Amino acid sequence: MDLKNTKIAIIGGGNIGGAIVKGLLRSGEVPASNITITRRNISRITEFSDLGVKTMEDNNLAVSTSDIIILAVLPSQLMGIVDSLKDSIKKEKHIVVSVVTAFNLQEIGQRLEAGVPVVRVMPNTAAAVGESMTCLCANPEHQESLEKVKSVFDKIGSTLIIAENMMSSATILGACGIAFFMRYIRAASQGGIQVGFHAADAQLIAAQTARGATSLLLESGNHPEREIDKVTTPMGCTIAGLNEMEHNGLSSALIKGIVLSYNELNKLK
Ligand SMILES: NC(=O)c1ccc[n+]([C@@H]2O[C@H](COP(=O)([O-])OP(=O)(O)OC[C@H]3O[C@@H](n4cnc5c(N)ncnc54)[C@H](OP(=O)(O)O)[C@@H]3O)[C@@H](O)[C@H]2O)c1
Repeated sequence: MDLKNTKIAIIGGGNIGGAIVKGLLRSGEVPASNITITRRNISRITEFSDLGVKTMEDNNLAVSTSDIIILAVLPSQLMGIVDSLKDSIKKEKHIVVSVVTAFNLQEIGQRLEAGVPVVRVMPNTAAAVGESMTCLCANPEHQESLEKVKSVFDKIGSTLIIAENMMSSATILGACGIAFFMRYIRAASQGGIQVGFHAADAQLIAAQTARGATSLLLESGNHPEREIDKVTTPMGCTIAGLNEMEHNGLSSALIKGIVLSYNELNKLK
């Protein structure tokens, strides 16, 4: 899809809306003048207007001048906004994209003019640096729109088309996952400080090592345990530390946390 001729509106320029805009600008594939971002308090998004992005409070005006409408507001705000935009969104012109947790395609689609393509997307805040993991889904009749939206999110990281019933799981593993990995890196940094590094050096070593581990898996497709075997010398310090972490429940804590987050998300419905 030629993004040079596609106009994108982000309704709700908060954490994830802002991250998407930063990623799109960084990609160099979408001119700043093709992007509109809204929020009620536009004084909070002057960093984008300074870069040539259109910023405004008027969601209907943003919709009327755009092709792809990305809804990035809180779940409690979503339906009010969909209702307020209903008359401006036209099936011949627009694709509606929701990054909002907990509302499904049918719930959004039934509030709009019949036939408006709706795509659900679950990115994460690494979109800001072009490293989002974004899962997407749409109903079968909107596959063309799904591909168009995928081509936008391909510019800001990796994408995976999934079934709609997997969107909650994608939210936990991908979007919430940023927080889980951050906490691991923070803990590793604290350990690094205890064994002698200043905080900044400890964080650099922990974060770059996490990036290296990630790249090893993504580039080789290997199972993590295969890479662990290469690091764990028999009777060595790595296996001693790793086993101590496991005795204290490292893997179990992560799995239980992911499952608990998933159950909490499903209670939102
Ligand atoms: N944060 C993540 O990592 C992440 C990842 C994937 C998906 N999500 C989903 O994305 C959604 C937003 O999350 P978030 O963390 O970005 O929340 P957030 O930082 O609170 O952003 C929501 C934004 O919506 C704006 N807003 C509220 N009412 C509005 C209106 N009537 N018109 C225009 N803008 C309006 C708010 O700004 P004003 O108050 O100034 O209007 C705020 O900037 C949630 O549904 C969440 O499930 C989040």
